Amino acid sequence: MLAAMSAQARKTPVSLGTLRQKKRRGEAFAALTAYDALFAELISSSGVDVLLVGDSLGMVLQGHDSTLPVTVEDMVYHMTCVGRGNRGALIMADLPFMSYASESQSLETAAALMRAGAHVVKLEGGAWLAESTRSLTERGIPVCAHMGLTPQSINRIGGYRVQGRDPSQAQTMINEAVILEESGASIVLLECVPVELGKTIAERLEVPVIGIGAGPHTDGQIMVMHDMLGLTPSSIRVPKFVKNFLPESADGVPGAFRAYADAVREGRFPGLEHSFS
Ligand code: KIV
Repeated sequence: MLAAMSAQARKTPVSLGTLRQKKRRGEAFAALTAYDALFAELISSSGVDVLLVGDSLGMVLQGHDSTLPVTVEDMVYHMTCVGRGNRGALIMADLPFMSYASESQSLETAAALMRAGAHVVKLEGGAWLAESTRSLTERGIPVCAHMGLTPQSINRIGGYRVQGRDPSQAQTMINEAVILEESGASIVLLECVPVELGKTIAERLEVPVIGIGAGPHTDGQIMVMHDMLGLTPSSIRVPKFVKNFLPESADGVPGAFRAYADAVREGRFPGLEHSFS
């Protein structure tokens, strides 16, 4: 099986340059979470461009009710597994809760994940990440800034709800996205924001913007793998932005990954029914 999958590996691995080029050409790209070697192999061989080793593993693998208990050691372990299975996708890895509270701590945690094979590290927050983003970028570590609904701040936010509906909150998010781009962020990821805000930020930034529940106009889309296979844990309410692609597949799980990648590339997913107004 490994040999068969390797044969489908991309000729040229996906890089940040690939994503920037896709943005310039208006070609949407697809991303999915992955936490182990087998799924990393299946997903990266199916036309999905970006794998995220997300701290959502705390909820979908470990059974926690938030991402807060996930440790750097957990992330390094899963990053290593995904790296072994990857066939040419760009790999992003989350810095878990309280592992980037200071600039020096963010360098240390990011270095551990880069040594484990990550290509980009993802941090949740706004303008307060500017210094760490600059330090990481200057030292050769590309940063994805995760904005909007930031699950590591769930206790402050008070629930998994849409962010940026209020015009002043939306303007703050736009300003902070620009600050993070100017500080060196290579990607911005927007979670659970209204369609118009997703569109404005994607148009305003030069770097690729990936959305989850951020409408159809962001440059790329991402979903948690379990959600798009209809496997959301029963303790979690299935979010509006989730679509199960398994029923569209003629050959089970690999077909579902291909159906998702095709739907994103062809602009058929997400629809307005998966978005917030
Ligand atoms: O951890 C994760 O899976 C994420 C996605 C929800 C984008 O951050």
